[in-house]
Amino acid sequence: MHIYFFTGTGNSYRTAQKLKELSVANGHLSLLTPVDGLKRKDIKPAPEDHLFAFFYPTHGFSLPWHMLKFICRFPSGKGKVALVNNRAGMKMGRLFTPGLSGIALLLPMIILLIKGYRIAAMVPLDTPSNWISIHPGIRKKVVSSIFLQRENEIAHMWACLKKGKGYYPLKFFLLLPLDLLISPISLAYVFYGRFMLARTYLADHKCNGCGLCADRCPVGAIKMIRKQPYWTYRCESCMRCANICPEKAINSSIPLTVLYTWLFIKIIAIDGPLKFIWDHLEGLGNAPFFLIKYMILWVLTFLGSLLLYQLFYSLNRIKVFKYIFAFTTPMKFWRHYIAPGFKGKY
Ligand SMILES: Cc1cc2nc3c(=O)[nH]c(=O)nc-3n(C[C@H](O)[C@H](O)[C@H](O)COP(=O)(O)O)c2cc1C
Repeated sequence: MHIYFFTGTGNSYRTAQKLKELSVANGHLSLLTPVDGLKRKDIKPAPEDHLFAFFYPTHGFSLPWHMLKFICRFPSGKGKVALVNNRAGMKMGRLFTPGLSGIALLLPMIILLIKGYRIAAMVPLDTPSNWISIHPGIRKKVVSSIFLQRENEIAHMWACLKKGKGYYPLKFFLLLPLDLLISPISLAYVFYGRFMLARTYLADHKCNGCGLCADRCPVGAIKMIRKQPYWTYRCESCMRCANICPEKAINSSIPLTVLYTWLFIKIIAIDGPLKFIWDHLEGLGNAPFFLIKYMILWVLTFLGSLLLYQLFYSLNRIKVFKYIFAFTTPMKFWRHYIAPGFKGKY
């Protein structure tokens, strides 16, 4: 078996590792490979009965662009594939709550079916949520209990796979209608949201310029400029940088998020699709002109976000602004999250 993974805070790595351990313990030869930095020529076509597994997080009801690109470039073949999508597991009171995959399993499934593979497993795996820009990191005790459940789930999955049976847990089908319903949001994330999120990170007054964030970024998205991290559009918002920073100096800026959200609502919702529907209803028949306008507005949004980030990044060099940005984000005040034992290296 060959397991490929992409991870931000280590959940997908840890769960992929568990599958590898189980298969090795059963005498199978298994490889575990991060997709970061992997080239197409490094991926060898495999024999017909070969099993591949892909582990990755959910980002914006979709999958990280880096992983999607890797799957798109994956050579065609006749082997079997297990798709394992790590998503936001939480605990509210006594209740463990699931995340929502959106198209994170469906899109790779379609791509790999077209490439000739058979789908041996489709698994949404509710591992601790790492999205600390919007909520505090999960408590250690809860993290351990969530991982215990997931490890049992992987053991069950492996038991099915080694017998040559498929594994498609009921929870995948139960949430499928909701996953499909939110698919427009997934697309908005892929084409817009991920770029905007990438432009909300700033390092505060605690940053000592050590460069660990840039060194451990899985996609090489962080540049160090005059001992300050700068986030480029390559950023996947995987949250590794913010969570491994020893000084907890990396924040997702609220003023920037508000500005981007406003830009998004204005350009996509007010001047965008809603206007399109309105114009269409009026029977004006100006769809081609609208599309051109829509694309221009889209480009302007990107340029706007670039300029805004540049402005905030420059202001962030001035001490008073550094404090303003740091203390207008809730991330500053709450627990961070990293999978137990994960150091940002494999
Ligand atoms: C930017 C971002 C977006 C996310 N979007 C979703 C989502 O749409 N649905 C979900 O269930 N979890 C979402 N999550 C949570 C992660 O998918 C989840 O915590 C996952 O286990 C992280 O895996 P990793 O440690 O391998 O990166 C998101 C996390 C981040 C940072």
